[in-house]
Amino acid sequence: MKRSVAIDGPSGAGKSTLARSVSKKFGFIYVDTGAIYRAVGLYVRQKGVAPKDAPAVERLLPDIRIDIEYDDDGVQHIILNGGDVSDKIREPEISIYASDVSAMPAVRAFLLDMQRNLAGRYDVVMDGRDIGTVVLPNATVKIFLTASAEARAERRHKELKEKGIECSYDEVLRDMEYRDKNDSSRAIAPLRPAEDSVLVDTTELTLEESAEKIAEIISERIGL
Ligand code: DC
Repeated sequence: MKRSVAIDGPSGAGKSTLARSVSKKFGFIYVDTGAIYRAVGLYVRQKGVAPKDAPAVERLLPDIRIDIEYDDDGVQHIILNGGDVSDKIREPEISIYASDVSAMPAVRAFLLDMQRNLAGRYDVVMDGRDIGTVVLPNATVKIFLTASAEARAERRHKELKEKGIECSYDEVLRDMEYRDKNDSSRAIAPLRPAEDSVLVDTTELTLEESAEKIAEIISERIGL
């Protein structure tokens, strides 16, 4: 039986950095499910389809093939129809596309098996919005990460700047608020903590403190 750690929460709460760090510590595979939604968003944009046009997006799904590969450092690469799109999917415009397409039931169904298959094959730390509630309801450990919108926007802005992506703090905050609303209010698999998840608020915590706290929670439950 494989073990799984589900880490959910809004964008910018530190999910990916923290999930990556604890996956290394426990020797689990890290699966960034947001990247998979972003790959769908990127394809939709490449095809010139409006991200809210559900019938048109659905028609594109059979043409989308997404593979996840890991390099020697355990870094996840997203391969869209044979091409590595790991950098392209991080552009701010793609965040909005990903958020919009992720509200469509057909898109979620399309990606569900892929995520469950990964958790069936490996011990995983999987981060996203609905991992503890929908994708892996029997996850060994469920963590829900939060932080204030301002703290999250500040972190995301810094991260984008470090990657050389130009944008203002206000723009990032606006995107964040748009996505919070979109992701929490959608009818299907909305962002909400699973009943049996442990809530961790990182507003006042450094990355190291957050990582320590999460590692403790995981250790306790997994017995490692
Ligand atoms: O985590 P992220 O910012 O890379 O995610 C991009 C978008 O994908 C986000 O706005 C919501 C959606 N998403 C989702 O609906 N379910 C997931 N498990 C992961 C991401």
